[in-house]
Amino acid sequence: MKVLVVGSGGREHAICYCLNKSDKVTELYCAPGNGGIASIATCVDIKATEIDKIVDFAVTGKFDLVFVAPEDPLALGLVDKLEASGIRAFGPSAKAAIVESSKAYSKNLMKKYNIPTARYELFDDEAKAVEYLDTQEAPIVIKCDGLALGKGVIIAQTIDEAKQAVHDMMADKKFGDAGSTVVIEECMVGPELTVLAFADGNTAVPMISSRDHKRALDNDEGLNTGGMGAVTPGADLSHEDKERILSEIIRPTITALKAEGRPFKGVIYFGLMLTKEGPKVVEYNCRFGDPETQAILPRLETDFVDIINACIDGNIADIDIKWKDVCSCVVVMASGGYPGSYNKGYEITGIDTCGKLVFQAGTKLEDGKTVTSGGRVLCVYDEGKTLDEAIDGAYEGVSKISFKDMHYRHDIGRTLK
Ligand code: AMP
Ligand code: GLY
Repeated sequence: MKVLVVGSGGREHAICYCLNKSDKVTELYCAPGNGGIASIATCVDIKATEIDKIVDFAVTGKFDLVFVAPEDPLALGLVDKLEASGIRAFGPSAKAAIVESSKAYSKNLMKKYNIPTARYELFDDEAKAVEYLDTQEAPIVIKCDGLALGKGVIIAQTIDEAKQAVHDMMADKKFGDAGSTVVIEECMVGPELTVLAFADGNTAVPMISSRDHKRALDNDEGLNTGGMGAVTPGADLSHEDKERILSEIIRPTITALKAEGRPFKGVIYFGLMLTKEGPKVVEYNCRFGDPETQAILPRLETDFVDIINACIDGNIADIDIKWKDVCSCVVVMASGGYPGSYNKGYEITGIDTCGKLVFQAGTKLEDGKTVTSGGRVLCVYDEGKTLDEAIDGAYEGVSKISFKDMHYRHDIGRTLK
């Protein structure tokens, strides 16, 4: 099979790594890819959001499969356009990707189908939002409706801070049109957990759970980032917890989307909070998470291509998905300054000699050297019989990699509450 992966991060490197292990994949391409992906796939200089160019490239190159990883091209309908051009594609349609591209849509869906989530109200008028905030208590959560690279969520500690956040989003358009509508919701408390599931429109099969670490600094301090590291499993879930997540959240969501004429095929991401009242949805995403994927996919034992085909063909329930019986950890190494501004172009040493699996993200090849080219630069993976073994192994790899101004968290997996 000739396969094209769309995207350029650590997640896409892990996806390419997994596809590359399948005997069924004979040619692997990635658009646009990165410095690490270039060692296992042919990178093509087309951005993930250049929808028409990707479709042209896939049709002209007679690709057998296109795997669309990031949310932006999914929301722009890349899968729909590929299918309309006769190309087999993995990922949800734009109609189904709305679970991520509109938080307002997701919240209303959860309310309609009784899927547990934080209480909320939606506003498209600032004055009304402020009036509502005067009746509420802090802490309270303000979110913009649309896509904002994970940055459009403010956990306000005071009502004044909440009003300021509403003003920044609605009047000052800090997140552009994504903030024209805001969600104001109850602040939930409890450990967070990510559960990804393979979905075929009718059924969803959960993967092993994982835990992301979103804040930039140790002890969950600093700004929210795309994710600074992840572990699997994400929690020591009881059988009852797992059953509740399946029967109260995963299955009803897939059933609801089908009933709404938006059947979901691809990977659906459930950001959950394990509250005192039980598991509740923090957010849906329409794709694999980053960096959760880098911690999850190396544990997959079943041929990835068989799973992808089953999602597309509607028979995921027939596949016996097997996972390696280990724990895993990935630690993200970022550019100094990330998630704020940072410099690029620094040489990275130690990737090939650190003795661990390294997934690259913001890297590129320059005169035969790997240099930094983004905020999250790479992530180091290891696994072990215990989580501690996995964590220690990943940090051993980190200690052997170096680039100017690098920064990473020292407590990935150590702060599981
Ligand atoms: P989101 O982009 O919706 O996942 O939000 C980013 C992060 O904000 C989540 O991972 C949570 O840590 C936090 N968060 C979002 N919504 C809530 C909520 N209702 N209560 C508490 N924390 C939240
Ligand atoms: N790690 C969070 C996300 O992918 O959205």
